[in-house]
Amino acid sequence: MDRQWHLTNGLLSLVLGVHDDGSLGLLHLGAPLAQGRSYRHLVPRGWRGFANRLGDPIALEVPTSGSGDFRVAALVVGQPDGSTVLELKYREHGIAVGKPDLGALPSTYVEDDAEAETLEVDLADERSGLVVTVAWTIFGERPALARSLRVRNDGNTALRLDTVMSLSLDLPDDDWTLLHLAGVWGRERHVVERVLAPGRQSISSNRGSSSAVHNPFVALRRATTTEAQGEVLGAALVYSGNHLAEVEVEPYGTARLRMGIDPETFSWALEPRASFQAPEAVLVWTDGGLGAMSHAFHDLFGRRLARGVWRDRPRPILVNNWEGTYFDFDEERLVAIATVARDLGIELFVLDDGWFGKRDADNSSLGDWFVDRRKLPNGIDGLSRRITELGLRFGIWIEPEMVSERSELFAAHPDWAFQVPGRPRTESRQQLVLDLARPEVVDHLFGVLSELFASGPISYVKWDMNRWTTEPWSGALPPERQGEAFHRHILGVYELYRRLTEAFPKILFESCASGGGRFDPGMLAFAPQAWASDDTDAIERLAIQWGSSLAYPVSSHGAHVSAVPNHQTGRITPLATRAAVAFFGAFGYELDTTALSDADREAVRDQVAFYKGHRELFQFGRLVRLRSPFEGDGNGTAWMVVSEDRRRAIVALYQVLNRPNPQVDRLPLRGLDAGAEYRITTWPRVDDAVTGANTVTRGGDDLMANGLLFDVERHESAALGDFWARLFVLDAIDR
Ligand code: DGJ
Repeated sequence: MDRQWHLTNGLLSLVLGVHDDGSLGLLHLGAPLAQGRSYRHLVPRGWRGFANRLGDPIALEVPTSGSGDFRVAALVVGQPDGSTVLELKYREHGIAVGKPDLGALPSTYVEDDAEAETLEVDLADERSGLVVTVAWTIFGERPALARSLRVRNDGNTALRLDTVMSLSLDLPDDDWTLLHLAGVWGRERHVVERVLAPGRQSISSNRGSSSAVHNPFVALRRATTTEAQGEVLGAALVYSGNHLAEVEVEPYGTARLRMGIDPETFSWALEPRASFQAPEAVLVWTDGGLGAMSHAFHDLFGRRLARGVWRDRPRPILVNNWEGTYFDFDEERLVAIATVARDLGIELFVLDDGWFGKRDADNSSLGDWFVDRRKLPNGIDGLSRRITELGLRFGIWIEPEMVSERSELFAAHPDWAFQVPGRPRTESRQQLVLDLARPEVVDHLFGVLSELFASGPISYVKWDMNRWTTEPWSGALPPERQGEAFHRHILGVYELYRRLTEAFPKILFESCASGGGRFDPGMLAFAPQAWASDDTDAIERLAIQWGSSLAYPVSSHGAHVSAVPNHQTGRITPLATRAAVAFFGAFGYELDTTALSDADREAVRDQVAFYKGHRELFQFGRLVRLRSPFEGDGNGTAWMVVSEDRRRAIVALYQVLNRPNPQVDRLPLRGLDAGAEYRITTWPRVDDAVTGANTVTRGGDDLMANGLLFDVERHESAALGDFWARLFVLDAIDR
């Protein structure tokens, strides 16, 4: 047997082979290739990048350090003699239908074994007893692969894992542009691109969670790749903790992409007979451009990573009281907000921060998950029953992973917070991070939160997390295992999520972290939607939602209409524009409904009715990005959603600043049925220079070739003002 494996589904091919020295390497990843052939010729021999080991292969699946491959390593293991040199050689392999799960870690899954095939190859280092299992899953009918790594200590002495990357790909050329999603609070997941250059280029988080700073997603695209065509390789880590994604371009023009838990903040003691499972990396390869890549991620993450009854269910339209009241509310005020919301057609009322302990500001009570009877004399039970009697569902906010110094929980268990004994604690938002590496903390939280969730008709939970982790020292771990604290904490978070979602399968969970600070695939496995950003300004949201959509499905973006002037930017945008942006997400409102004018109430009623009429198309249709806020002067953004049968679509065009005497503009559409005729209507129902020319019936071929037409005369443009948005609803008609 020539020890070569070819995973293909007609959409892509992955070919792995065992090299002459016994190591495992990548021969091909990309376009689908014919089966039954050898692809060994693709790996150059005698490669000059290695020291003294001419003949060593260029492409390694699990590169290690210290033996001549000077590129970044995927696996660094400290051994009893202090060295990190390993000789990983093929030992055995297995191929099976289906996809095994990863135990404590979230991962993509199949509903039927026929949906995927998994190859596992064991590599062993005889001297240390280390066995590495490389697992590759190929999904049928999806241009996607999942890759994970498991290491096991079959030796007699403890080993120390310093670096365990989930993915390491040796790509034969460096002719790529690296795309990633960077930001901070209030401007999460902005698209950043850089052409690969010699050396290392990386993104990472050492903040204890995936973070708003760098999302655990990267893509490599060719210079000529666009939204609609061209080669792209996307990689995402199914993990919510510290991560690293790095590309190294070495002097001979190859590129190594590695992705996994951030090695700077990680080490793990691997005792004899113990094993360690690294998180899963998901890869998408396509030559259909960034749009096809995103579609593959949306489909896989939306349908085979997200779980539970809400996965495929239309999400309710909610009103959240946070920006409406902040901490200043009582039962009557909340019921008043909910009553108006009900009259406007809203379906779910969400009570945000401030209902528990004695929390009138963000300086106390986290951890005390019992109701504040000063504000809610009838408890959560009383309030939630009043809300449900109105005909709304009821949802509640929690922040389980945190504790305030001013809290009963901290007074009882000061050692449950992360801190280094004898050193000052770094406070952030006047709160501390609970150490979920301690099983008793997870047990405690499960106990109090299950009591809360059972205390009334709660059908939605917003799970927040509002600070980064510092002093990551766990009282549950001995000194030599402190490098495990971050990862064990995340495993504790996952354990708590798993227990609560299993105990309350009907609750819709939305994750949150000071806005979109933990908007990652790991969270998606438990909470099918995530609050995308505390920045609810419609214009800022264009960039945030565009960037998020590179990897995450529209149904996962929590998106709300808020009051103006916007609380984050001070900007005043039209109510219709705020809705036209938030429609492209899990839609809701975040304002005091009682403060809306009569005209605004009428407008909201219309928005809610419009969204309900098209909700499944918005949430689960195929997203096609048309005009990027990150290109040119960023003044225009456009995207659309198309139904699976291509008979319905909604196109959105947004303009930031109005320009005098505008140019003639065309917006070619994509993804329609070329042979269909579409009747076009607009929302809001205005007849003006933007909409007028487009409320006609046109062919899909014409709309894709020539696009919507915008020919605004100079005397007409002033009426549009700044920050306008128009939606175009396309319905195929039978001829
Ligand atoms: C941060 C979240 O992103 C907000 O939506 C809100 O829930 C606050 N925390 C409450 O403290």
